[in-house]
Formats: sequence, structure tokens, C-alpha cells
Amino acid sequence: MATTTTALLCLCAVTLVASIGVDITEHLNKRAGSSRVAFSAGLTTNLELHQPVNITFDKVFTNIGDAYDNNTGEFTCPAAGTYVFQFHGLTESDGSIWMELFKNNAYVISAYSHSANDYGAASNAIVLQLAVGDVVHLQGHGDVYLYGASDEVYATFNGFLLYPAKSS
Ligand SMILES: *[C@@H]1O[C@H](CO)[C@@H](O)[C@H](O)[C@H]1NC(C)=O
Ligand SMILES: *[C@@H]1O[C@H](CO)[C@@H](O)[C@H](O)[C@H]1NC(C)=O
Repeated sequence: MATTTTALLCLCAVTLVASIGVDITEHLNKRAGSSRVAFSAGLTTNLELHQPVNITFDKVFTNIGDAYDNNTGEFTCPAAGTYVFQFHGLTESDGSIWMELFKNNAYVISAYSHSANDYGAASNAIVLQLAVGDVVHLQGHGDVYLYGASDEVYATFNGFLLYPAKSS
């Protein structure tokens, strides 16, 4: 009798541990699923700016997590973590590029180029820790001439989640 009780208790304990295991696995899978974020967008038209204006990269190559909006050029962080951003541009001949990356409307980094009678290229990259809802966007500063055509995409804006934040 005692042996049967012990066996039943053991069975219960094993079942309990197994079901907790399944719960944790499901939880981790859900977290991993919601933490896949990567976007890449390019410019398919010439963009000429003479004052601070948000830059919108129209052509979306990749938008996993749907966090980049190609109507506004904004990336809105859907999952807390460490993100990599990279941006690049080519000027028209003799043009300038002065691009700035902003986080929540606060200036972070720049890329600049000007070559007299030539095509200048500018780029920069950064690793940023973001919270859910943080917004990252690019803005022109002063005179900007970014070259772009549907079959000549030189200017791109890219970002992806490197490490999801540890769950709290
Ligand atoms: C530029 O983007 C920022 C950040 O998303 C936003 O707050 C601001 O209203 C935008 N400016 C314009 C002129 O759209
Ligand atoms: C945004 O991207 C979609 C799909 O890639 C495209 O059809 C649409 O024209 C783009 N919007 C703008 C404003 O370029």
C-alpha cells in the first residue's frame, strides 16, 4: 500500500515538473517569436532638402516585426533590447549629405560628406539599447542631396535586434 502511494506521488511530481517544463518552453518560444526584429529600407527617388526634415526610405526590403514605417521613416521599438542601426547615402555630383540619427527626438550621431565636382558617400552605424516604444529616425541637417532611383538604390537605413533584453 505504502509503495503504491509513493509511486502515485512520484508520478504526480513527475507530471507536475513535466507540465511546468512545457509552460516554460512555450513562454520562451513566445518571447523569442516576439523578439525577431529586422528592417532594411532604401531610397528610390532623389531627395533634396534644405532644412531639417525627416528622411523616409520608401522601398522596404525587409521588415520583420513590422517596426519600420515607410510612410514616416520611423522605427518604433517593439521589444526591449540591444539594437544595431546603420545608414548610408550617396550625394549627387557636388552635393552634400548631412544625416543625423535621432532617438526619441534627441540627437545621437551624424554622417557627413561633400566632394566638390564629385559624388560623396556618407555612412555611420551605432549600437543602442532601446525600450519598447522608443523611436529612432533619420533627419537631414541643412543641405542634403541624396541620390536614388528604382534601379540605383544607394541610400539605405537598416536596423536589427542583436540581443533581446533579459526578462524582468
Ligand atoms: C520627425 O520624426 C519625429 C520622431 O518620430 C517626430 O516626432 C516628428 O514629428 C517628425 N517630424 C516631422 C516634420 O514629421
Ligand atoms: C511602403 O512599402 C510598401 C511595400 O513595400 C510599398 O508598396 C509602398 O509604396 C511604400 N510606401 C511608400 C510611401 O513608399
